[in-house]
Amino acid sequence: MPEKSVRLGVLASGRGTNLQAVMDAASAGRISASIAVVLSDKKDSPALDRARKGRIPAVTLDPGESPTKEAYDERIVGILREHRVDLVVLAGYMRIVTPVLIGAFRNRIINIHPSLLPSFPGLRSPKMALEWGVKVSGCTVHFVEESVDSGPIIIQAAVSVREDDTEASLAARILEQEHRILSRAIQFFAEGRLEVNGRRVTVRGAEAGPDQVVLSPGPDLKP
Ligand code: GRF
Repeated sequence: MPEKSVRLGVLASGRGTNLQAVMDAASAGRISASIAVVLSDKKDSPALDRARKGRIPAVTLDPGESPTKEAYDERIVGILREHRVDLVVLAGYMRIVTPVLIGAFRNRIINIHPSLLPSFPGLRSPKMALEWGVKVSGCTVHFVEESVDSGPIIIQAAVSVREDDTEASLAARILEQEHRILSRAIQFFAEGRLEVNGRRVTVRGAEAGPDQVVLSPGPDLKP
């Protein structure tokens, strides 16, 4: 499938550094995508300011104004359609999306999560990684399905855990990698290279998968 410029709808609740990384990649021409609209459930989300600075339509939708979660997602779908969105990116979006949104954009919603899924879904994943004493953590971009932080995995980046890591230091190193793999996943989508078979996502044209793995730092282990 030929590469096309994909229209993105980004949903964000917080500071929006992943949004910023995608904005930067798009304006530098590193991805064949443009951000058509940014939506937030929080009116004071810094993500909205970033969008406005980048002259991207920024919309707040107050969940309190919709009677149900499904009704809220109907409104989201309406706005995404209005802006002719091809791919929905959940970038620090703190609400659980309902089948209304998932069904309207089947295999066209991706989420970035700060762990190597399926380990540590949910909140405060870097803290959980430290509590479990894992030696490697990282981040995952996956398609969104009905259950939280599940769905076919597109790309992951691994980050080694250090002895002296705190939740904040580990989260910061993971975040750097989030910024890399989110844009990479968007570019795979734009190039029409993602093929979903059950739980497995194949990147067409990738040599035996290394495109889907990022190691940070690169292999430096001595035997
Ligand atoms: C990121 O850690 C992301 O993985 C998680 O929420 C955080 C959002 O960060 N889903 P930001 O708002 O993009 O800076």
